Amino acid sequence: MIVLDQENRVFTLHTQNTTYQMKADRHNVLLHTYYGPRLAGGDLSYLIRYADRACAPNPAEAGLDRTYSLDTLPQEYSTCGVGDFRLPSLELELPGGSCSADLRYVRCELRGGKYALEGLPAFHGSRADAETLVITLEDAAAQAEVELYYGVFEGYDLITRAVRVVNRGGQALRLRRCDSLCLDLLRSDLDLITFDGCHMMERAPDRAPLRSGVQGVGSARGTSSHQHNPFVILCDRDANEDYGLCYGAALLYSGSFQALAEGSQYDNTRLVMGINPLQFCWTLEPGQSFTAPEGALVCSPSGLGQLSRQLHRAIRERLIRDPYEGKRRPVLINNWEATYFDFDADKLVDFAKTAAPLGIELLVMDDGWFGKRNDDNSGLGDWVVNEEKLPGGLEALVPRIQELGMSFGIWIEPEMVSEDSQLYREHPDWALHIPGRSPARGRNQLVLDFSRPEVRQHVYGQIKAVLSSAGISYVKWDMNRSLSDVWSAALPPQRQGEVCHRYVLGVYEMLEQMRRDFPHILIEGCAGGGGRFDAGMLYYTPQIWCSDNTDAIDRLRIQYGTSFCYPVSAVGAHVSTSPNEENGRLTPLETRGTVAMAGTFGYELDPRKVSPQEQELMKEQAAFFKEHYDLIQRGDYYRLSDPFAGGPYTAWEQVSADRREALVSLVSTSLRAAPPFQTLRLKGLDPALTYQVNGGEAYPGDVLMSAGFPLPLLRGDYQSMQLYLRAI
Ligand code: DGJ
Repeated sequence: MIVLDQENRVFTLHTQNTTYQMKADRHNVLLHTYYGPRLAGGDLSYLIRYADRACAPNPAEAGLDRTYSLDTLPQEYSTCGVGDFRLPSLELELPGGSCSADLRYVRCELRGGKYALEGLPAFHGSRADAETLVITLEDAAAQAEVELYYGVFEGYDLITRAVRVVNRGGQALRLRRCDSLCLDLLRSDLDLITFDGCHMMERAPDRAPLRSGVQGVGSARGTSSHQHNPFVILCDRDANEDYGLCYGAALLYSGSFQALAEGSQYDNTRLVMGINPLQFCWTLEPGQSFTAPEGALVCSPSGLGQLSRQLHRAIRERLIRDPYEGKRRPVLINNWEATYFDFDADKLVDFAKTAAPLGIELLVMDDGWFGKRNDDNSGLGDWVVNEEKLPGGLEALVPRIQELGMSFGIWIEPEMVSEDSQLYREHPDWALHIPGRSPARGRNQLVLDFSRPEVRQHVYGQIKAVLSSAGISYVKWDMNRSLSDVWSAALPPQRQGEVCHRYVLGVYEMLEQMRRDFPHILIEGCAGGGGRFDAGMLYYTPQIWCSDNTDAIDRLRIQYGTSFCYPVSAVGAHVSTSPNEENGRLTPLETRGTVAMAGTFGYELDPRKVSPQEQELMKEQAAFFKEHYDLIQRGDYYRLSDPFAGGPYTAWEQVSADRREALVSLVSTSLRAAPPFQTLRLKGLDPALTYQVNGGEAYPGDVLMSAGFPLPLLRGDYQSMQLYLRAI
């Protein structure tokens, strides 16, 4: 619910459990007054205090009032160059060459439903579950208007933000920075949690008390990156899974980003998040506008677990657009780790013949089916079926798979080009490169200039022909290197700072086009595994390959970190072979299945090399997953332990919305003789109900939550358990 107090110019956004408030003050500066647990309302600006602070400049309107300074007041959207020395959200280069921004309140507008952003990912909501507030600010000297958009999803405790800058003057302006969200809090006794790592070990939570000065994460790779994720948390120092005030901020953006927090001199905190200014400078001609990507804020007054569950539900129901909406996505098998480039049509048909009777429903043909692609040094850009491997093309192969009762999916990497390709030989200037420099290769490939429409159109034309040639129901959209040598032959020198963002917009445009042309196709995102795992991509690709690391034990950590923001249904997870291809670790098939069920669940191994006993187990796993699909994919997710804490096991739990069903999963990660007895305390159950566990013994919900479930003594490395609880 949005409450506008026009007289006092107080704007209050209520969600079910939270309140967010701003006020345009006596100098028309838009101040942030409060964000936290839900309050009745009223003007909360008395929480802001004023004092004469040395070295904090006072704007001209304040006259001789030395207690009024932009540098000390909580700003709703921070500026620069005119007296606030903390992190700016907006930086304009004025026609005279100065860099600054100075914003004053002009008007506000309330709209039913949720605003949309053209060409950008955004949460969606109807009049029934969302409202929009647009606050317009102006920078008189720059002759620019800045519209702040707020989408309020009451039932999801979600507030989305977007920013549109309009050049109302007669001369060009340059945007040097335009963040998506700014959050000023009147306290600094907070922890900052970021999600960091590297290729194959993505999104490990990194938690530290907020210090004085600027700290944070970002990416300058042109993708959201394996290294840092565009999602951060600020929380009470003692917040844990079940307790404490927590703020989550996610950026719906898949390119270079920055998320910075600043502990400032008077113990306030400012968080800003948006496109990384390092590679960004956008020229706005008179009358033109620029829209920054959407940011999303959630606040949980009751711990990190609740914060995640709010985000999961919002992302599942109000961000992801799933062709399998309300239905079950198929259990897939992918040939990558089983064959790499060494496959042909007969081998794939053999895979399908073995996999179909096990209950596997979709065969995904990974990299290597096109052009001259027998290793990763050639072929990218030539999206034409390699008939030496697949005689008769997909028209011949796909019906053979379908006859076996399976559907068919395909891998693509549209943004890339190999120098050894027809495309590159014909259009070398289509690859990103800086004149006079030889571009750096990554995985021996170059990046196509997706900021250029003609490049996108050419690539999409080829891919569309392939997708139209046979019954394809799934696409894995991969992207295997970072952007370097960023320069576009299609833009003038003063616009080169637009290339990275135009590239991302180009990717979004092609994804949207593919969704439009092939609405039945499930697109899985991928960037060397989890290098572009962000809320922006999830708008186009309902699931994302979580990591190139398929080792079940490493995945416990990767999926744990990922779960802070992203729902199970978004997390691409496969059972692969043992010893694992990435680290050689041996794990039981049961455990690999248990871990893959904290994600989308599928297989990535040669089913023909699996023993009959293991095939039987695969059959049981697939059947179990299908039977409990709703609970696993849409249930409320509880982290029961932290795999980074070094305990004897990692456990998690999914609970149905009516709390009558739950699935508890546990993987033992360290083993010793004479182990102590352990009990596992469950969460989210109905204390008044009694639950039967795996069809046997029954236990009261309150006992399971307060005293715990007595764990059996596990023998052998990396054993796992799944407990299916049903209320009786
Ligand atoms: C990286 C992906 O993450 C893998 O799953 C696989 O698709 C390879 N690329 C193929 O080149």
